[in-house]
Amino acid sequence: MSITKRDSGSSTATDGVPLEYTPAVAAATADVYERVRAVVPEVEWPVHAPYIDAIERWKRRRGAVVLAHNYQTPEIFHGVADLSGDSLALAQQAAETDAEVIVMCGVHFMAETAKMLSPEKTVLIPDLEAGCSLAASISGADVRRLRERHPGVPVVTYVNTSVEVKAESDICCTSSNAVEVVESLGVDRVIFLPDEFLGRYVADNTDVEVILWQGHCEVHERFTGDELRDYRKTYPGIQIFAHPECPPDVLSEADYVGSTAGLIRHVDATRPERVVLVTECSMSDNVAVAHPDVEFIRPCNLCPHMKQITLPKILTALERLQHEVTIDPDVAVRGRRAVERMLEVGRGAGG
Ligand code: 13P
Ligand code: SF4
Repeated sequence: MSITKRDSGSSTATDGVPLEYTPAVAAATADVYERVRAVVPEVEWPVHAPYIDAIERWKRRRGAVVLAHNYQTPEIFHGVADLSGDSLALAQQAAETDAEVIVMCGVHFMAETAKMLSPEKTVLIPDLEAGCSLAASISGADVRRLRERHPGVPVVTYVNTSVEVKAESDICCTSSNAVEVVESLGVDRVIFLPDEFLGRYVADNTDVEVILWQGHCEVHERFTGDELRDYRKTYPGIQIFAHPECPPDVLSEADYVGSTAGLIRHVDATRPERVVLVTECSMSDNVAVAHPDVEFIRPCNLCPHMKQITLPKILTALERLQHEVTIDPDVAVRGRRAVERMLEVGRGAGG
């Protein structure tokens, strides 16, 4: 992805002077605080509220929409996001929105996907450091070498990749439609990139042979089956819902496996008394807001990339229109084709 640094030169609220928590700000944000009070300590609210208030005004001024992944912190997820969801939902929403400016509160590949699907829009990412260990594990040249080694075998690529990798692929998938996408091709073998564990999960759920790459999510690879067995002993009756980026011994302990949106839907549908969401840490906070009656056991594995996004950086992004995502047009056309093929297959899919 190429990222344009644009600096208006004007001073902004984030130039070092914290915004003030005034009675007007308190009143304007009171309804948001009511929603998140179970997961955001009262002492933190005077820090977040002035940014939430200012971001709302700048969104209107810019004609902007804020998209947030399910791993964003509650003050972002519940405070300023207009649309939220898993990777598939964010891609669909980016393709459909009428807004002129999209602020992606997520990681680079999500912002790139939004730009590919809405090339005429201004797509901003609030921090340049918001990468992904899966996206960093593979290059376009790696995909070309794999194709040489396995001629004629189609390449299915997880969206957690750069646009260059998508451009070398036949079709993309997310964790909510990976099995469906693989089976849609009507072939005996696919190359599945780059997440080894998601690929193994797909292989376990289809008759299609899956050729794997050894990319891993640095957050989900840390969970272990032993850790989950300990939870079962310590917390009787606990339900274990896991993301398919986890290692196989973790998934075999799980009562349910699904994308982040799938995990949320499964909590909504089954309303367990006690649950552990085996995924990034902020998810439980975000889901707990709607489920005060559910006890969430929270191992805290944070994604350092997702956590680069903060309210002050979102405000600066809107004020300065930074950091704008641009993609080489030829690469974008090929990458977009792979994402659009996925959206055709995955329309209406659940995780
Ligand atoms: P989903 O939200 O699509 O399940 O992806 C999880 C993830 O790790 C995104 O980076
Ligand atoms: Fe990448 Fe894992 Fe972070 Fe998602 S949670 S952005 S897959 S490193």
